[in-house]
Amino acid sequence: MNRDTYEIGLPIIQKAGVEHKINFIQSSALSALDELLEDDANRESFDFAFVDADKVNYQKYHERLLQLVKVGGIIAYDNTLWFGTVAMPEEFVKESQKRNRLHIIELNKFLANDDRVQISQVPLGDGITICRRL
Ligand SMILES: C[S@@+](CC[C@H](N)C(=O)[O-])C[C@H]1O[C@@H](n2cnc3c(N)ncnc32)[C@H](O)[C@@H]1O
Repeated sequence: MNRDTYEIGLPIIQKAGVEHKINFIQSSALSALDELLEDDANRESFDFAFVDADKVNYQKYHERLLQLVKVGGIIAYDNTLWFGTVAMPEEFVKESQKRNRLHIIELNKFLANDDRVQISQVPLGDGITICRRL
């Protein structure tokens, strides 16, 4: 969404000699994924996806990424513990955290029951759910 943010890291990326591996797409993630899906060559072609943007759309990303990531590939979701609030009674949750908390709880339940992936919940930082496509 924001090229300025990418450009903060760009000198480090260049210093590491990996700029040629990056295709920066300035776009909302949903439309970027939909565009990738228009080309059949992209389907089941990715090894790994890391999702760390708008929590409200995580399930929509999941449906698209399952088509883009190959069998055995990984889709990782950040913030799936949402500051620990997913395991707290609602009365202890700050008002500002409530909305995303509900989306994340819904995603966690969904992923736990999704037989297209095997999952591992990693309790590091704000929680990462690693999904391996079956
Ligand atoms: C928490 S930061 C990601 C940090 C990144 N994963 C890292 O480790 O450096 C969230 C990023 O998602 C971007 N973002 C938010 N909503 C988005 C959307 N709908 N589509 C694409 N990017 C979005 C924001 O501009 C921001 O750069």
